[in-house]
Amino acid sequence: MVAQSQPAISGPGLAVPRHVAIIMDGNGRWAVRHNKPRSVGHKRGAEAVREAIEGALNSGVEYLTLYAFSSENWNRPQDEVSDLMGLLKLYLSREVKTMHKQGVRLQVIGRKEMLSSDIREMISRAETLTAENSRLTLVIALSYGSRDEIVEAAKKLVGKVLEGKISASDITEDVLADELMTSSLPDPDLIIRTSGEQRLSNFLMWQAAYSEFLFLDLLWPDFSKETFQDAVSEYQTRDRRYGARPQ
Ligand code: IPE
Ligand code: IPE
Ligand code: MG
Repeated sequence: MVAQSQPAISGPGLAVPRHVAIIMDGNGRWAVRHNKPRSVGHKRGAEAVREAIEGALNSGVEYLTLYAFSSENWNRPQDEVSDLMGLLKLYLSREVKTMHKQGVRLQVIGRKEMLSSDIREMISRAETLTAENSRLTLVIALSYGSRDEIVEAAKKLVGKVLEGKISASDITEDVLADELMTSSLPDPDLIIRTSGEQRLSNFLMWQAAYSEFLFLDLLWPDFSKETFQDAVSEYQTRDRRYGARPQ
């Protein structure tokens, strides 16, 4: 369990968000717009990830979570899934060294067991290599689904109750949150979604209870470090109340 961000209920002028999460959407539409195959859109999308990381490093954000592949994305055509997995491999083989140099710690959330063994191995090596880095924690959500995560947490708690380790009345919000894949992360302060869609698509539903949302019309491959900085500035004008009476 980590300390959550201090509720800033004093009105506009918020600090830099501690944790920014991004739903990286719109690669397919970018490809259509540029008359290219979807795979090129995904390739350009992978390049935009670098921009997001740089934006986070420049802004002093501590945690950046990127939704890269949802549990529902397995239902896409086989060739698109293969393209995405191929890109993931390429990304991990090319970028981990740079991330390590930049002081980035990499963590993956999601059903890793659904990924191929070579990808799982690359992830595990990258997580170990970067484990001591503390400038930015980059969390990549892969084969991730929020409902699935909550169901798994519920199963673990039931198991603990049945084993007599805890009783049902011990289950609090914090106890449940500790069973989620995000147990070591603060809740996201800001959730950005590109592509103009305004939905969560099964992303961090529990953790988003008091997140600020920013929906951008631009398509993910067009995201830049400047976009990130602008998003942080927009966040800083928000008035987070957490249910309290306005000041
Ligand atoms: C986001 O782009 C990438 C993934 C979901 C893996 P999309 O592929 O969803 O692009 P659109 O939404 O079809 O434009
Ligand atoms: C959400 O995008 C998942 C990721 C960005 C990885 P989708 O494109 O899969 O979401 P829907 O289908 O438009 O809701
Ligand atoms: Mg999409």
